[in-house]
Amino acid sequence: ADAAATTNATATANATQCLPGAIIIGVRKGGTRALLEMLSLHPGVAVAKAEVHYFNLEEHYRRGLGWYRAQMPASLPGQLTVEKTPGYFAAPLAPGRVRAMDGAVRLLLIVRDPAERLVSDYTQVLHNRRQRGKPYRPLEELLLRPDGAIDAGYKALQRSLYHQHLGRWLQRFPRGQIHVVDGDALVRDPFPELRGVERFLELSPRIAPSNFYFNATKGFYCLLPNAGQERCLDESKGRPHAPLGANARRKLCRFLRRPNRRFFEMVGRVFAWC
Ligand code: A3P
Repeated sequence: ADAAATTNATATANATQCLPGAIIIGVRKGGTRALLEMLSLHPGVAVAKAEVHYFNLEEHYRRGLGWYRAQMPASLPGQLTVEKTPGYFAAPLAPGRVRAMDGAVRLLLIVRDPAERLVSDYTQVLHNRRQRGKPYRPLEELLLRPDGAIDAGYKALQRSLYHQHLGRWLQRFPRGQIHVVDGDALVRDPFPELRGVERFLELSPRIAPSNFYFNATKGFYCLLPNAGQERCLDESKGRPHAPLGANARRKLCRFLRRPNRRFFEMVGRVFAWC
């Protein structure tokens, strides 16, 4: 026990807060929390638990890099600090600001079928409003104009136009500095996606298939750390979606076909989206 206490004391003495070497920039509802939690299984990684919103919110950005660094977790020499704020991806000023902090920072982008992402995004807003006792219009009323056409101005739809947002990041960062994670694949089987992330971040392969188990009650994979308690993500992750009629869904998929293709060209990869 004494030896362990000494080791802990030494570790605490060596711990410092560092700016992130990698940032999960989005997409909102893409599986960003799952990715961060799963990556935190790696002993060479220290993650910021809470979303920081430094590069996308003026009141935070104004506080400067000292403030940003103070939001980071304590890390040991050689550990990689990682934060996730899905709001960065669609924030127009974020790419330039991230680059100004560190042009070599590695970026992780977890994507998911953009139609499904939109429904998940709506469901989250609906839930938040209900909690505050506020009403919210049905999804189809927001997604479709009175004439039945897709309303391209609907915010949650805008956030699903991945090519537009990625275009801004690619003006500031080379393609090779952005690693795209398939969020749908992460749900089906987390390990291969995590192995890809380890490779991209040049981490030793320390996350194993045995770190995950499928929890039939939750309907998702949960985490089995090497030391510590097994845990699932909270109930806000993987909750039932608000309904969207077949006709509206068809229109949405048709609308997204071209933006999706543009995104596939940008990332050099095709996804099986709606
Ligand atoms: P749904 O709630 O729509 O199913 P984010 O953390 O970016 O908000 O993403 C939330 C999404 O993460 C969830 O969306 C869920 O599908 C996905 N997810 C991926 N892996 C998960 C896991 N192991 N447990 C729970 N949710 C997971």
